[in-house]
Amino acid sequence: MDRFHIVGGAALRGDVRVSGAKNAALPILFSTLLGGGLEIGNVPALRDIRTALSLLGHLGIQAVSLPGGEAPFVALDSAAEESGGWSGHFRLSDADESSYEAPYDLVRTMRASILCLGPLLARRKRARVSLPGGCLIGARPVDMHLNAFVRMGANISIDHGYIDANTDGLVGCDIHLPYPTVTGTENILMAAVLAKGTTCIFNAAQEPEVTDLAISLQSRGARIEGIGTSSLRIEGVPEISSCVHNVMWDRIEAGTFLVAGALLGEPLTVHGFDSSILMSLMVALSEMGASFESKDSSVTVRRIDSPKGASIRTEPYPGFPTDMQAQILPLMAIANGSSTVVETVFENRFTHVMEMNRMGANIDIHGSRAFVRGGAVLEGASVMASDLRASAGLVLAGLIANGETVIQRVYHIDRGYERIERKLEALGARIKRVREEAAP
Ligand code: UD1
Repeated sequence: MDRFHIVGGAALRGDVRVSGAKNAALPILFSTLLGGGLEIGNVPALRDIRTALSLLGHLGIQAVSLPGGEAPFVALDSAAEESGGWSGHFRLSDADESSYEAPYDLVRTMRASILCLGPLLARRKRARVSLPGGCLIGARPVDMHLNAFVRMGANISIDHGYIDANTDGLVGCDIHLPYPTVTGTENILMAAVLAKGTTCIFNAAQEPEVTDLAISLQSRGARIEGIGTSSLRIEGVPEISSCVHNVMWDRIEAGTFLVAGALLGEPLTVHGFDSSILMSLMVALSEMGASFESKDSSVTVRRIDSPKGASIRTEPYPGFPTDMQAQILPLMAIANGSSTVVETVFENRFTHVMEMNRMGANIDIHGSRAFVRGGAVLEGASVMASDLRASAGLVLAGLIANGETVIQRVYHIDRGYERIERKLEALGARIKRVREEAAP
C-alpha cells in the first residue's frame, strides 16, 4: 500500500488543470449497458474507472482506448505515463449481452457498481449484482433504487449478499424519491430510458454529474425533460444509439485545489472549471476571507492571511457538497475563531477528524456536528486515510503542518484524484509517494 510523505509549509504557486469527473464518468460508462455503444472522452485515470471498465468487460462491454481524441482536458501526461498511455478517450460497444452478473470481487471496492443494476434490468431484463462496498461513510443503503425498480415492474430479492432482479419488461411510472439520492436518480433515469411509457422522477438529485449523464443519454436518443431540475420526465424508447461525449470536469477536485490555494496559494490558479457550480464552496471560502479572480474557465485564489471561522451545512446540490467537508476542515482548524460543520448527507463522515486532532486540530464531534476551535498550529504526524475525501482533507492538513506528515493507505485517494501528488508537487508542494516495496 502506497503512502504519502509530506513536508508542510511550502507555498503553492502556479497553475493546475482539473481532470474529468469520476462521478460523471462512472454512470456514463455504466449507461453503455443500455446498448448502442458510446465514444467517451475526458475519462480520468483513476482506480474506480479501471474497476468500472473491468466490470463492464465482465458484462460483455468492450472498451477500446482511442489515441488523443477531442477531449478538452485529456489525462495529465504524468498519469498517462504511469498508466501505460491513458488517453482518457474510449470507444465502448456491447459485444456480448448474455452476462448479467456483477460479482462481489469487482463490486466490493466501489459502491457506484450499483449503477449497473438499472441498465441491466432495462436492457437484459435480468441482473444479479453484489451489494456494494466503497467508502466506509455510513450505512449507504440502496433501498430507494430497489423500491423504484419494483414499482417499475421488477422482481427483486436479496440472496447471499447479492441483489437478484428480473423483469418481463420495465414500465414507466411516477417515482417520488424520499431523498434526492445521486446514484439512485442516475440508476432510475437509465432504467427509464428503455422502459415502456413515461417515468417521472420527483425530488430527483440535481447534481451536475446527473445532468452530464442525462445530456449524454439525450445525445444518444433518450427522451428526457427537466434536465438539471428536481423533476425528470423520461419517455421510454425501444433503443438508443451512440454519440461522442466528453465528461464534465471534476468540481470536487477543483474545490480541493481552491481550498489548497486558500491555505497556501501565492497565487494558485485552477483551470478548466465553471465556477457557477462550486458557488456554495466559494461563498464559504469568501466568508473565511478568500477572494477570487475568475477569468474564462479559471479561478485564481491566494492564501488567506488571517482566515475567519465559518459555519457550513452539507446538503444536496446546490448546497455545500459533503464531498468537500473534509477538505475545508484544515482551514477551519487554523482560522481565528470557531467554526461549525453540520453533516446532513451521510452519517459517520468524520473519520478524518480524529486524525486531524492527532495533528493538533481542536475539533469535537457531537453526532452529525463538528465544532472546530480555531487557532490550531498543525504538527506533522503519521495518519491513516479512511475514505476518499477524508484522505484529501489529510493531504491538505499535511501541506500546512509543521514537519513531516505520513499518510498511510493512499489507495483511497487514488480512487478519486488523478495523481494528486504530481499536481501538488508541480505547484511547489513537498509531497512524495512512497511505494510499499520502496518503503524501508
Ligand atoms: C454520490 C457520490 C458521492 C457523494 C454523494 C452525495 C457517486 C459515485 N458518488 O454517492 O461522491 O458523496 O453522492 O453527494 O456519484 N440513501 C439511502 N437509500 C438509498 C440511497 C441513498 O438511504 O437507496 C442515503 C445514503 O445512505 C446517504 C444519502 O442517502 O445517507 C445520500 O446518498 P446518495 O445521494 O445516494 O449518495 P451516493 O449516490 O452513494
